Amino acid sequence: MSNVQGLFDFIDASPTAFHAVANICSELEAAGFDRLEESSAWKLVPGRGYFVTRNMSSVIAFRLPEGGADSYRIIAAHSDSPTFKIKENAELSVRGKYIKLNVERYGGMLFSTWFDRPLSVAGRVVVRTESGVEARLIDVDHDMLVIPNVAIHMNREINDGFKYNAQTDLMPLMGSDAVKDGFKKAVAEAAGVCEDDILGCDLYLYPRIKGRVIGAADEYILSPRLDDLECAWSGLAAFKAANAPANGVNMLCVFDNEEVGSGTKQGADSTFLYDVLDRISIAVGQTGDEKYRALAASFMLSADNAHAVHPNHPEKTDETNCTFMNEGVVIKFNANQRYTTDAVSSAFFHRILKDNGIPCQHFANRSDSPGGSTLGNISGSHVSINTLDIGLAQLAMHSACETAGARDLDYMVNAMTAFYNTRVSTRRDGEYCME
Ligand code: CO
Repeated sequence: MSNVQGLFDFIDASPTAFHAVANICSELEAAGFDRLEESSAWKLVPGRGYFVTRNMSSVIAFRLPEGGADSYRIIAAHSDSPTFKIKENAELSVRGKYIKLNVERYGGMLFSTWFDRPLSVAGRVVVRTESGVEARLIDVDHDMLVIPNVAIHMNREINDGFKYNAQTDLMPLMGSDAVKDGFKKAVAEAAGVCEDDILGCDLYLYPRIKGRVIGAADEYILSPRLDDLECAWSGLAAFKAANAPANGVNMLCVFDNEEVGSGTKQGADSTFLYDVLDRISIAVGQTGDEKYRALAASFMLSADNAHAVHPNHPEKTDETNCTFMNEGVVIKFNANQRYTTDAVSSAFFHRILKDNGIPCQHFANRSDSPGGSTLGNISGSHVSINTLDIGLAQLAMHSACETAGARDLDYMVNAMTAFYNTRVSTRRDGEYCME
């Protein structure tokens, strides 16, 4: 259970992508990794580990081998989860009696799960400094808001299906008219600055729910943001636990903005990964030829949670390619390559799982359903290497509170650690040597 408690602590301390990345960075720093800045010169020492952030919401960490950087073992996950962003002019007054916040949705969440529960606000503010501006993370950390349902007496049809309007139905109540102008005050207080010094904000709602173990035999975990902080945390745990690589580079990427299509300067559809790979290659003195050879011998795990068979709706999942909680790491397949897995990348990973006694299962969408997509194929359009899509089976993806398997976390950490400990080389396309 120690991994489960570690995951809960990480999720609880990570109400936004900014906080998730800050927590990953401080864990890496504590483990002896050095922080790099994209704006500084990189002098890299063989055998050492480093990390670099972009937008404070994406991070790439890597550990150089003592020997040649002749391949990359990359794990990618995402730092963001669906939520509500608070608009610039945040306060709305209702009949002079209520103050509520003006929010818009970030990503595709299950609206109803955000109702009637305590919410707070966290994110990033940018404040005035002597010489310019500087970003700071904040967490109001207070049961400050609620999105109240309309009583059934006033909406008799709600249980027959209801279409939520994002502008009218989803605004959280902050307090009575007495708290007018109180939002900026609360944010300034959390940032430790005066209101006028706050020049920019990226602020989001988060549910005030702590992760817990549930089920008659304690077999499930219930927590916000399991998608995808469970995979991000597993990747971090494996990255730290893996042996010092003799050859090849271990790399962990946690990208922001997967939930809105990844198309930002820090998302998987940016140059971030390519830029870091290029700079490593330059810093270790590779020729162009050596760089391309290393990419050809590389593998990436794109790790994002998967759908378990739903107890009330088993018919929503494919009959033979469906997954259950606590039955191991999920490998995802899609003929149209929304998931990147192919025979080579799945065989490569199956071999690692089998050699280490780790259970696995296979997921494909029903053939009449398009399903979701994730990081792998998007990242692959910038850095094209062997990739497969994996995850852990969970219920209620994009709910404010999701359910997953308590035993699966260990399977994922062990699988990722074994992946980092596998040395890969290739002599020709389609043939790989694994040690
Ligand atoms: Co996800």
